[in-house]
Amino acid sequence: MPIERGKFRGAKEVRPLTPEEQGVVDKFHELYYRMWREGRFTLDVSWLGYFAVKNPMDLWIYQEIIVETEPDVIIETGTLLGGSALYMATVCDAIGRGEVVTIDTVGSDVTGSVRPTHPLVTYVKGSSTDLAIFESVRNMCEGKRTMVILDSDHDKSNVLAELEKYAPLVSVGCYIIVEDSNVNGHPVYREHGEGPFEAATEFLTGSYDYIVDESRERFMFTCNPNGYLKRVANIDSGLFDAETAMLVAEDALKRGDLNRAVKALENGVRLNPDVTELKTTLDLLIEKTTPGPQEE
Ligand SMILES: C[S@@+](CC[C@H](N)C(=O)[O-])C[C@H]1O[C@@H](n2cnc3c(N)ncnc32)[C@H](O)[C@@H]1O
Repeated sequence: MPIERGKFRGAKEVRPLTPEEQGVVDKFHELYYRMWREGRFTLDVSWLGYFAVKNPMDLWIYQEIIVETEPDVIIETGTLLGGSALYMATVCDAIGRGEVVTIDTVGSDVTGSVRPTHPLVTYVKGSSTDLAIFESVRNMCEGKRTMVILDSDHDKSNVLAELEKYAPLVSVGCYIIVEDSNVNGHPVYREHGEGPFEAATEFLTGSYDYIVDESRERFMFTCNPNGYLKRVANIDSGLFDAETAMLVAEDALKRGDLNRAVKALENGVRLNPDVTELKTTLDLLIEKTTPGPQEE
């Protein structure tokens, strides 16, 4: 029997941490991660007896996101042993909505472990960026409210390729979660090289459909910093109201991406010519950032 969902929601606005506070969180994060690599199993969790590699704080946020945004289908790239897919399917089952499609290059025959069987989990074997695999997954979510979690190969090039393919499938109001953006010194595993964090940053540079939802990082310690990307618009379909244009511009400014902020406002003006506030904000931004004669 599905459980009727309650109305409580976590805070939507979170105060940014001071540098001192962020320093404390980063130190804890580094310790937690180092302990995982040294065999203390801090990131190895079990759900109903099945293994997953997750920070429990992030799993809690996944549950909140699923309950609040009600996806019909959750696509996960990177199954491993299936514990994270089972976790999400259990939440879907409890609320009577949603199913999980999880993709991995490797099947359970190779992982040497029996993956969980659940009526709401579909396993797909192949690479997430393979065109045939992508097309079959796209068909599975055709016309459905869709959420995506990227947890396969964490190299920047792969994550960027996944973002380019899968981000357009996500429904407005839903999320694409870029996992393990903490590597490459954000703040852990500096030796990793460019990874999910850099892929998400580059993806956002050219996107007016997504913002980073920092409220999903409210527990402070997350393995997905800047990785909770919320789809707020579908600009290609003309779904970009004035409020959203302001929101995207604000997000861009927070990330120091002035060009994206200007373009978001320009698109806002183009699609909402009657809203004078947008034009005023755009003019102000351009004026503020154009060097005066003494600065030239
Ligand atoms: C970090 S693990 C996934 C962990 C799992 N989501 C969990 O939380 O327990 C990464 C997985 O991605 C798979 N993988 C690597 N490259 C892939 C690709 N291009 N497409 C699909 N899966 C891939 C690996 O085989 C591995 O099982």
